[in-house]
Amino acid sequence: MIPEPRSGADDGGEPEDGRQTVLALREVSARLGARPVLHGVDVRVRRGEVVTLLGANGSGKSTAVRVAIGQVPVSGGGVELFGTPLRRFRDWARVGYVPQRTTAAGGVPATVSEVVASGRLSRAKLGFLRRADRAAIRAALDEVGMADRAKDPVEALSGGQHQRVLIARALASEPELLLMDEPMAGVDLESQQVLARTLAAQVERGTTVLLVLHELGPLEPLIDRAIVLRDGCVRHDGPPPRAVGQHALPGHDHVHPHSGAAEAVRSGLLG
Ligand SMILES: Nc1ncnc2c1ncn2[C@@H]1O[C@H](COP(=O)(O)OP(=O)(O)OP(=O)(O)O)[C@@H](O)[C@H]1O
Ligand SMILES: [Mg+2]
Repeated sequence: MIPEPRSGADDGGEPEDGRQTVLALREVSARLGARPVLHGVDVRVRRGEVVTLLGANGSGKSTAVRVAIGQVPVSGGGVELFGTPLRRFRDWARVGYVPQRTTAAGGVPATVSEVVASGRLSRAKLGFLRRADRAAIRAALDEVGMADRAKDPVEALSGGQHQRVLIARALASEPELLLMDEPMAGVDLESQQVLARTLAAQVERGTTVLLVLHELGPLEPLIDRAIVLRDGCVRHDGPPPRAVGQHALPGHDHVHPHSGAAEAVRSGLLG
């Protein structure tokens, strides 16, 4: 059989390089309250890819991620996870989600290990944590360097430590797709490096990653592709803006050949 010629985007079947589309937002529009927030947004993430979602405050990054896991309903277009339409998708253990930190504070006091355990419930049988579950929880805490704080209440943690615990929670289910909304926000350089190593280990294992960032920072070497949102529309989908990270200091007017990304950098979209 002669394969049909294809344009850049795949249609949800097997793409030409044989990698499955793990997450697809197809022409997604979404509103929050009465406010239209996303306008025909296309996001495709294939197995093993590390894709970053960039854009100014309010451009719709968090909304796009929340649409991907069904927390925000679409008003147009559709979402698929692992090739299954979101409304039929049940296999949540395959997906790890780290929310943007402002939305993460819960009202119920919990210990670090309880929070991480909550990320494992989707794998646990009948809600009971078995030996393998407890081992996964320990491993996730180890990975983010928080094993020694397992019994502490989360209220007793600093912002950056709290963030590490949320990442451990997402890792505890050993997800195939990891969605992270600004995992580096408010995290000092040392913790950023811990997180970068954690993520590198996940990527090495074949985990697919979509993460919202404001700057690439220590994650830059891991990133395959950047999608830049502006006012709820995709403005760029392609190579990451390499200028960000090392050269994005004020006054450094670095122009880069990747036009869309370079424009994003120049216009301060990533600030
Ligand atoms: N509950 C809500 N009701 C109405 N509008 C909302 C609500 N939550 C967010 N918005 C608006 O939706 C738009 C997109 O918000 P979103 O949180 O997706 O942006 P973002 O790109 O993640 O921004 P940031 O970089 O600040 O996290 C913003 O204009 C925001 O004010
Ligand atoms: Mg956000």
